[in-house]
Parts: sequence; C-alpha cells; structure tokens
Amino acid sequence: MCSYCGCRDVVLIGQLTAEHEAVVNAGGLLQRAVAAGETHRAVRLLEELESLLHPHTALEERGLFAELRQDEVFTEHVDRLCGEHRDLDERLAVCRGGDWSGLEALLFALREHIEKEENGLFPAALTSLDGDQWERLHEDPAVTGTPQHAHPHDQDHQHAHGHDHPHDHDSARPQAQV
Ligand SMILES: [Fe+2]
Ligand SMILES: [Fe+2]
Repeated sequence: MCSYCGCRDVVLIGQLTAEHEAVVNAGGLLQRAVAAGETHRAVRLLEELESLLHPHTALEERGLFAELRQDEVFTEHVDRLCGEHRDLDERLAVCRGGDWSGLEALLFALREHIEKEENGLFPAALTSLDGDQWERLHEDPAVTGTPQHAHPHDQDHQHAHGHDHPHDHDSARPQAQV
C-alpha cells in the first residue's frame, strides 16, 4: 500500500485504492466460502467479486491507463497491466464454470496486480500527469471518490470491508485534484 507519497489524496487514486480494498476483502470471503464447501454462497460471492472488479478495471483502462499509455515510458507497463486484467477475467470464468481449483492462485495474482498499481503506477501517475490530465480524468462520472458498491444490501457487504464505516477516511480526505 502506497501510504507515503500522497497519491491517495487524489480523488481518483483514493477511489481506486478503496476499490482494491473492497475487491481483496470480497476475495477473502470467497476463499473462505469455497474452503468451507459453501457452494451456493461461493457462487454469490464470486458474482459480487466480479461486479466490484469489472467497473474498477474498466475505469482504470478508459481513464488513468489511457492517459498514461500516451507516454511511451508507461506504454509497455500499462499494456502488461491490461493483459493481467484479461488474465484475471479468464481465471474468474473458470471458477464460474464450477472449477475452483485455481481460486487461490487467482487471488494471489489479484493481490500482486494491485500491489503493482498501488506501489508503482499510481505514485508514478502523480508525478507524471499534469493538472489538465487529472481534470479530464475526474470528469468521468464513475469517479465519485468512493468505491462502487455491488450489493448494498448484501449481508456480507459490511463484513467484506472489515469494519462498519470503511470509507470515513475517504470522505474526510481533502479532495485534492492535482
Ligand atoms: Fe488493474
Ligand atoms: Fe486496480
């Protein structure tokens, strides 16, 4: 987790980072359900994980990644991260087909992917993009400063975030738009 360069203070980066937390927590719940043999619950949690992950990766790809890709310094790295999005989708589809044997490796790959973004690309974006670019990125209606909630009434929802008021720190954060 990048907690020292201030990139989380940028609304978009703060939102993407909070979405990572929600995705990882949903993955943890899914892993426990599969380990416990709770198949119906696992199927529902898999849907929830996908409904958190897909808007997140779509937002990354059409916004921050598209902007960074224009700089050839980042093109290859961004393309690799997009390839990892596709790989994660394929692994999720295998689970959806009823084969959970790759779930642990999938969740490991997901956490590694997130680490590359939070400790690599996001801090790099902060020093590389200019004010106009950030302004453009923040015009995306999906940028709300808070993570998207897949199933607001889902019983697992609060547990998925680990505590009752997971985003208080986000709303309290200065809404800087570098
Ligand atoms: Fe990503
Ligand atoms: Fe991400």
